[in-house]
Amino acid sequence: MNLKEKCPIITFNDLGDDRGKLVVIEGNQSIPFDIKRVFYIYDSNNDVIRGQHANKNSEFVLINVAGRSKVRITDGDEEMVVELDKPMMGVYIPRMIWKDMYDFSSDSVLLVLASTHYDGREYIRDYDEYLKILKSENEND
Ligand code: TYD
Repeated sequence: MNLKEKCPIITFNDLGDDRGKLVVIEGNQSIPFDIKRVFYIYDSNNDVIRGQHANKNSEFVLINVAGRSKVRITDGDEEMVVELDKPMMGVYIPRMIWKDMYDFSSDSVLLVLASTHYDGREYIRDYDEYLKILKSENEND
């Protein structure tokens, strides 16, 4: 599976009408997992790079509900940049994908839906270690 297939863009239905827009997100429906945690990132300057980690267990969907940001993702092989700039679009990020979020607009509110409760021990924050773990997982396949 290539990286685009592993990390698809999700387009949510717009249930809006002449009163305004409405987007509904339900776990195990438009999001391919049960949502256990929600956090959002805002007030990040555009010179900041966040993320810079991979997760051994967690899956995520990232949505810029306001403003814009970019996420650079890699599976250690391919790399792609997704521009998050619409409240009705998200990107799915499965486990063991390295991600960097950057280029935040001053009004950016980046909403993150996660499949797990927070556990700092499942974060891999060293890129070489990430590649090593990937390699050992591939050998055990
Ligand atoms: P961090 O993972 O560095 O944020 P980002 O991925 O956006 O760069 O998290 C910043 C701090 O917040 C760090 O001390 C861990 C803590 N944190 C939690 O306690 N729970 C959470 O769900 C998250 C995402 C972070």
